[in-house]
Amino acid sequence: MAIIQSNDCLIPLIYKMSVNFTGEVLPGQFFMLRAWDKDPLLSRPISVHDYKAGKLTFLYQVVGKGTGILSRLKSGDAVEIQGPYGNGFPEVSRDLCVVGGGIGIAPLYYLVKKYKEKNPLGNCRVYLGFRENSYGVEAFKSIANEVIIDIGGIITHHVKVKPNEVVMTCGPEMLMASVAKAVPLENQVYVSMETHMACGIGACLGCTCETKSGNRKVCKDGPVFLREEVFYV
Ligand SMILES: Cc1cc2nc3c(=O)[nH]c(=O)nc-3n(C[C@H](O)[C@H](O)[C@H](O)COP(=O)(O)OP(=O)(O)OC[C@H]3O[C@@H](n4cnc5c(N)ncnc54)[C@H](O)[C@@H]3O)c2cc1C
Ligand code: FES
Repeated sequence: MAIIQSNDCLIPLIYKMSVNFTGEVLPGQFFMLRAWDKDPLLSRPISVHDYKAGKLTFLYQVVGKGTGILSRLKSGDAVEIQGPYGNGFPEVSRDLCVVGGGIGIAPLYYLVKKYKEKNPLGNCRVYLGFRENSYGVEAFKSIANEVIIDIGGIITHHVKVKPNEVVMTCGPEMLMASVAKAVPLENQVYVSMETHMACGIGACLGCTCETKSGNRKVCKDGPVFLREEVFYV
């Protein structure tokens, strides 16, 4: 059980929750959260948005029953968190280009933060796309070299990748497929898949995803994959 330190509404339906936690956490990993008994049946996967010793932060969108219950929790309440699970984004030392869409920006902040800690001279450019209102943008601006925002349009139309950059993306599958197609094959591209999950630990096959090397479990083999594994390019 973790104790909630804060659970704030940033804009309607978008919440940022911090809980107490200490352990090793990699960018792109996720936790299974629950704050209910039997209904809904399953815990819900939420990515690590930020972490520093003693404080783990999630950024989440209310879309249904589970996230609705999470949004009503107050500081001091308990929430069950299991994890961290999944492989996470690989560590890179080349320049980084990050593309996020909507709540898919959630795992990208910790990714950029860790990248800049390890590569203070490395260049990190961030593209963030939102349908109506932006959120979490100032945090990216405080650590990245460049942040390009699109609200209401199509963020991938702005994306121009440089030859020395590794690209990492998370968001709606259409956005990631479009990044996977548009970026030259010479650039490495990593995508973070967000399929429905049941157990989160590789035990139920609930999250199977077709890849070039056969069926893989998003919760255990992913959620991060090389683009050519999951998209036709
Ligand atoms: C590895 C991983 C990391 C994630 N990280 C985050 C995060 O950081 N922040 C965040 O807000 N959400 C994240 N999600 C999505 C989140 O888990 C779901 O939105 C949540 O489980 C919905 O639960 P619910 O009970 O509120 O809604 P439900 O009642 O279960 O569903 C409501 C609606 O959302 C759809 N939905 C549910 N889960 C998903 C999904 N995984 N992908 C697409 N549509 C879905 C359902 O089909 C339904 O239409 C992540 C998912 C995965 C697999
Ligand atoms: S969610 Fe059970 S195997 Fe992935």
